[in-house]
Amino acid sequence: MRIAICTDHGGIELKMALVEYIKNLGYDLVDFGTDSEESVDYPDYVEKVGKAIQDQEVEKGIVICGSGVGVCITANKMKGVYAAICHDIYSAAQGVEHDNMNVLCLGGRVIGVELGKSLVKGFLEARFVGHDPGNERHLRRVSKVRKIEEEEMN
Ligand code: RB5
Repeated sequence: MRIAICTDHGGIELKMALVEYIKNLGYDLVDFGTDSEESVDYPDYVEKVGKAIQDQEVEKGIVICGSGVGVCITANKMKGVYAAICHDIYSAAQGVEHDNMNVLCLGGRVIGVELGKSLVKGFLEARFVGHDPGNERHLRRVSKVRKIEEEEMN
């Protein structure tokens, strides 16, 4: 699976650790930066991850800033991008399984490296269950989200 990652200056340390971790897990990773502690604007980086998802170059994305809030707001402005801040492992996996989340948002000043790795693992290993027999309710709910998205973004 191909994954994209980015951060602003608020998440450099976490991103560096996650890049190595994700590659070691065997995923194909596209790193959109930033790579220094020089102050940058997170929307410029999130947009690259969002576009990679929209263009189906990657399946999932991980976006990091100091709190996780700015990157999350930005990512959710992009059509076809479903992003959430998850600071617990249950939500990082269930957000994919039930809500078809395709972008995980993390706060580099909030989440330690080891928890960050566990969150990423849960997120990457999870898959949307809405097409499985008995789970149609999740597809129905996601379809309603998409309908709102269509109405709001067109
Ligand atoms: C940068 O200082 C900080 O504002 C940014 O990383 C993020 O926390 C915004 O949500």
